[in-house]
Amino acid sequence: MAGYDARLTTPENYRRWALQADGRSPPYAMLAAQVAQDPQVLSFLERLPETRRQPNLLFAAARYLLGRPADLAALRELIAGRPAELTAVMRSHRTQTNEAARCATLLPALCQLPEPLALIEVGASAGLTLLPDVYSYDYAGRQVPGTDPEAPTLRCTPIGPVPLPARTPTVTWRAGIDLNPLDPADAEDARWLQCLVWPAEGDRDERLRGALAAARRHRPVVHRGDLLDDLAGVAAAAPTDATLVVYHSAVLAYVEPKRRAAFAAAVRDVGAHWLSNEAPGVIGPVEPIQAAAGRRSFVLVRDGHEVLAATDSHGTWIAWAD
Ligand SMILES: C[S@@+](CC[C@H](N)C(=O)[O-])C[C@H]1O[C@@H](n2cnc3c(N)ncnc32)[C@H](O)[C@@H]1O
Repeated sequence: MAGYDARLTTPENYRRWALQADGRSPPYAMLAAQVAQDPQVLSFLERLPETRRQPNLLFAAARYLLGRPADLAALRELIAGRPAELTAVMRSHRTQTNEAARCATLLPALCQLPEPLALIEVGASAGLTLLPDVYSYDYAGRQVPGTDPEAPTLRCTPIGPVPLPARTPTVTWRAGIDLNPLDPADAEDARWLQCLVWPAEGDRDERLRGALAAARRHRPVVHRGDLLDDLAGVAAAAPTDATLVVYHSAVLAYVEPKRRAAFAAAVRDVGAHWLSNEAPGVIGPVEPIQAAAGRRSFVLVRDGHEVLAATDSHGTWIAWAD
């Protein structure tokens, strides 16, 4: 389960997560480290199934109930005073963070494929990462205009020989698949996505608001379904005169390794190009570029074997492989 490793204890999981949030969200890095040694919060967590103990889920659920990001005192108060409500939110919601900025790390790879493109994003959440052609980009001063001037401009630092495009690709068809699609036009879904954002992490709140507004204008379709069971059905509807691309970010870690391998075969079967933007080791052995990029990075892999780049897991930089 992404964000919680059942082979580790709950305190170990929270300590590990604190290291991931360190330098990104100081309030949450501190909170995760404090939870790791707090008997009251730990005993609350131990009463939940392992699949519901992730730091991201606890902190988002607390924010949902409190209306602001929790600190340790607020979290303890919530657990003492409203444990049933907190448990209910943690059981009914999932970690579905949808970070539009990840499009900035996918764009260079998408732009290497023959246009026009037909996109299938698996694990698309609210569809915000299904709009890579719509956003504009700023790669350390190099501007790439998107198709919607009102959509947010995604800022990303390129490192190494990143093949930056002059414009976004032409996309003639797109579809998402998610176990639980979120609706950008639904106030509750939008609120949950906002609760999943970590405090003090740059302009993520504002970017999310802009991306949700763009998704309400462009309405990318996200089908309810499983990335393995439903890929072929969705792909059958794609136009045959466009390059079919199946892609995902921050998704396959939630899927059992056996099903990941079956998914790789399913992508081949539908004849698509495949872009995977996941944590090191999720779709194969850890490559030197991933090891060098460190624990907070993802790796961008084409067609299951070609390592293109290490990428920031929240899309703020991309380091292209030499
Ligand atoms: C952390 S979110 C990432 C969303 C988006 N890809 C992004 O990068 O912003 C992971 C998403 O994958 C979805 N998901 C997990 N397992 C899935 C599966 N087997 N089939 C389809 N979607 C899945 C979850 O519901 C969730 O919306």
